[in-house]
Amino acid sequence: MLKKTYAAIILLAVFWQSQVYADGHKVAIASAHPLATAAGFEILDKGGNVFDAAVAVSGALAVVEPSGSGLGGGAYWLLHREKDGKETLIDGREKAPLASHKSMYLDKKGHIVPRLSLDGALAAAIPGMPAGLVHLSEKYGKLPLAESLAPAIRYARTGFAIGERYLKLLKFRAELINKYPQTAGIFLDNGKLPKLYSILKQPDLAKTLTQLADSGRDGFYSGNIADKLVNAIQKGGGIWTKEDLESYQVVEREPVRGQYKGIKITSTAPSSSGGIALIEALNILSGYDLQEADEITRKHLITEAMRRAYHDRTLYLGDADFIDIPVKRLLNEDYAAGLRSSIRQDKALPSNMLSGEIQKQPEGTNTTHFSIIDEEGNRVAATLSINFPFGSGFVAAGTGVLLNDEMDDFASLPGAMNGYGLVGGAANAIAPGKRMLSSMTPTFLENDSSIAVLGTPGGSRIISMVLLAALDFAKGNGPDSWVQVPRFHHQFMPDVIEYEKGALTGSELKGLAAMGHQLKAARYPYGDMQAVLLNKKAKTLEAASDKRGEGRAMVSYP
Ligand code: GLY
Repeated sequence: MLKKTYAAIILLAVFWQSQVYADGHKVAIASAHPLATAAGFEILDKGGNVFDAAVAVSGALAVVEPSGSGLGGGAYWLLHREKDGKETLIDGREKAPLASHKSMYLDKKGHIVPRLSLDGALAAAIPGMPAGLVHLSEKYGKLPLAESLAPAIRYARTGFAIGERYLKLLKFRAELINKYPQTAGIFLDNGKLPKLYSILKQPDLAKTLTQLADSGRDGFYSGNIADKLVNAIQKGGGIWTKEDLESYQVVEREPVRGQYKGIKITSTAPSSSGGIALIEALNILSGYDLQEADEITRKHLITEAMRRAYHDRTLYLGDADFIDIPVKRLLNEDYAAGLRSSIRQDKALPSNMLSGEIQKQPEGTNTTHFSIIDEEGNRVAATLSINFPFGSGFVAAGTGVLLNDEMDDFASLPGAMNGYGLVGGAANAIAPGKRMLSSMTPTFLENDSSIAVLGTPGGSRIISMVLLAALDFAKGNGPDSWVQVPRFHHQFMPDVIEYEKGALTGSELKGLAAMGHQLKAARYPYGDMQAVLLNKKAKTLEAASDKRGEGRAMVSYP
């Protein structure tokens, strides 16, 4: 019965969306939740532009997909404004608290204390999402922030029906959440998992969102919400101060750009590694005819490109405001040619021949993504995160804000693996006020005929997922195909190809193993890609949501 009610609500939302005229424009939106996509169209219908819609979708996801992102986390919004060609990356990544230091997750012997950077108040970095929403709205939107955040506030106040994905991710973190009564009181039902399709209301979060909507960044980073956040964090063993919140600023960065066989790639600059690693891998692959190669060779070459791009991620990438990154070299085609020359067509190169020790493979998937484009080409690719599902599990009392555990994306100890099995070095060491290295890869792809906007959650696997989708775009396929591409992943360390069941055939598994690759099936399908496409000549739009998730892709026609 409840299942039918939920289905009816979704159908009503879809029917309602088909009535939306989006300010006389054709617009495509794909997001990880039907209500977030609906929020975007609601704001377009009120006269908002795609950037207002991005504020609405971000705000809504913070409410209806609390496992993936939220006010307690961070985000990257990649924007393109057609009228003046302005292209920018809003870096709303979290920052390390000012009292943080290199050994904060180590014991007296210098060993990592398990889970200290993943669970609870000490794992939380200073959130960038609220400042990012204010910046995006004020600088690029047409509507007041309060109008763009209205759907999110409504969802938080009146509630929404929780789905299967929500429950699966909640189960993954339920034990942790039960340690924090403030969090358990919101997301659990007397300490137990709530029933499928039960209604989740978040009145405290509605109030915090309202305060942000009405007072802008002061509504979150100073005043009573800031007081509550700092008090709760300090009581919980964390190290935030009011100065941390007051001094937080988003940064606008020049996106990184590259070319692959006639396709222009635009993606994230550091503090995310996504854009550089994606373009480096594509530069390596540009020397091969992947269409002509047999499937085993094709997958071998893609794996070897991933291995080298993730290796450079480990060596060179971190927060560009703190370290010098050899961006030009990493994006240089001759540099890629040098890496390509170290690839044998018939044999894997063990990662420890590049450098370092072999680590074991972690589990985990997180974060969220949405993509928006209109018929003029205005567009937003945004990836938003609180890191692990339900972040640190810690809600500051009276705020409804679930805090991130993004501190785990730093290299707590050079050479040791983080929650995604990624190893890092000095470039990504903890420092006060520094942004931790991300893998988030919101991306634009453009060729003569079309513009694609895409991205996905999935921790360290984000980059390889976007790479596989970009190669599928290069084959001439559309968004429906990119989001469904069977996935495989190599991240330099651990030295293993992790693949979705069915992504590699029996003969491919044998062929790759014979080349020396280690192979491991992922326990679950992973990722939740959201993609849209504009056909530049016909001015038609397409949108697709990953079937692995419960997202909604919609195109409106005036
Ligand atoms: N927290 C995952 C990432 O930023 O890559």
